[in-house]
Amino acid sequence: MNNLSGETNWLNVRTHSVLEAVKSGREDYVRLLGWVASKRAIGGIVFVMLRDGSGFIQVAGKKGVTDEESLEVMKRVSLESAAMVGGPIREDERAPHGRELSVKEFKIISLADKWPITKSAIKSPSFLYDNRHLSIRGRKAISILKIRAESIYSSLEFFTKRGFTLINAPMLVQSACEGGATLFNLDYFGKVAFLTQSAQLYEEAAICAFEKVFVLQPAFRAERSKTTKHLTEFWMLEAEQAFATHSDVMKLEEDLVSHMTNHIVDECSEELKTIGRRFSPPTTPFPRITYDEARNTARRKGIVFEWGDDIPTEAEKVLSRSFDRPFFITGYPLKARSFYHMADPKDGRISLSSDLMAPEGYGEIATGGQRIHEYDTLLERVKKQDLPIESFSWYLDLRRYGLPPHSGFGIGIERLVRWICGLRHIRASTLFPRTITRISP
Ligand code: 4AD
Ligand code: MG
Repeated sequence: MNNLSGETNWLNVRTHSVLEAVKSGREDYVRLLGWVASKRAIGGIVFVMLRDGSGFIQVAGKKGVTDEESLEVMKRVSLESAAMVGGPIREDERAPHGRELSVKEFKIISLADKWPITKSAIKSPSFLYDNRHLSIRGRKAISILKIRAESIYSSLEFFTKRGFTLINAPMLVQSACEGGATLFNLDYFGKVAFLTQSAQLYEEAAICAFEKVFVLQPAFRAERSKTTKHLTEFWMLEAEQAFATHSDVMKLEEDLVSHMTNHIVDECSEELKTIGRRFSPPTTPFPRITYDEARNTARRKGIVFEWGDDIPTEAEKVLSRSFDRPFFITGYPLKARSFYHMADPKDGRISLSSDLMAPEGYGEIATGGQRIHEYDTLLERVKKQDLPIESFSWYLDLRRYGLPPHSGFGIGIERLVRWICGLRHIRASTLFPRTITRISP
């Protein structure tokens, strides 16, 4: 039977991963498990591109070399079927990596129906996302998602080496961190609760236990407009540090982005090549401009906005296109910021905060700053912004029990990956994107 679906001891069947096979010696006999990523027949030879978790390898079936039944199976096998392939590794300069597997045995493990993701089927731009459960097997999707995974590994390494403690914060909350407009409300046994927008408030409690903390978890925002940079569910990497100023965290952000991008370039050169992205890690320090300078530059380019407003997306794009590496915008007006931001002691209208912007038009990837650590100042701000004092009582309470000056930031993983990979739309940077128009698959 040329069908292995009854087999259970898979570890015994597989002798190599694809990556090991590509690197193994000539004539080594290998048995691989994987999926049929593509297939073509030329002059009686059947070429299959086999994919496993480690990569792709060309396997070739030929009359007289491949066992007869296996060759018939290769001719029939459908795209994306799972299969076992066995045979010696041969050198062939026409094959990717200069190596191919000369098939002796080819067995189907799970036969796929006709694969729906074809060039002609991709009519509307949403087709691939309607079928994301299948389209994530594409080379580009795999490469982007590997780059994402490597970015995350490198960030964990960065913070751990610097003595930051990883904490986990709740996702069901009653204290809104970033204002009411983007809150997802839910009924919590008769009380109102929200999905978290940021772990920051909880990090601020945790720094009095650990001094330096970081969090990597989902954040939720009911973003009501269709854009190429907003998801409704995204992953945020946040750090908070006691006894630290705004400038300290800007330096930390620079070092983090530098570490992550260097790691990507070192570890993911193949993936960057596959997606056609030329990317070099930016040099530090990153340039810094003020909000006022940003506003003047935008005005010169014909984009006018009031002092105190958020920088509009169009202006952000224009500014970001004029840089070739990330840059900070400092000196944001206090009224454009959330309630916890500390005012600049030199000018009370301005906050001690900044946005880190990616170049090439990608725009904001992180926001950070110093927090109010004094009880009375925070209470006044909560009242002034008409926020429900009860839901911030614990957060205010922290200010009565030894909370020192402290600062922190949050960086959006998908925004970062979008820039590193050069993606038009942020949705490609995550496995199953959630946007205003998409909650499935
Ligand atoms: O600028 P934000 O709103 O800042 C905060 O939430 C702070 N509490 C973080 C902190 O200081 N601990 O969000 C931080 C980052 C943004 O710069 C952006 O990269 C990302 O989170 N982000 C989003 N990413 C995708 N889709 C959205 N809707 C996003 N909203 C924010
Ligand atoms: Mg922000």
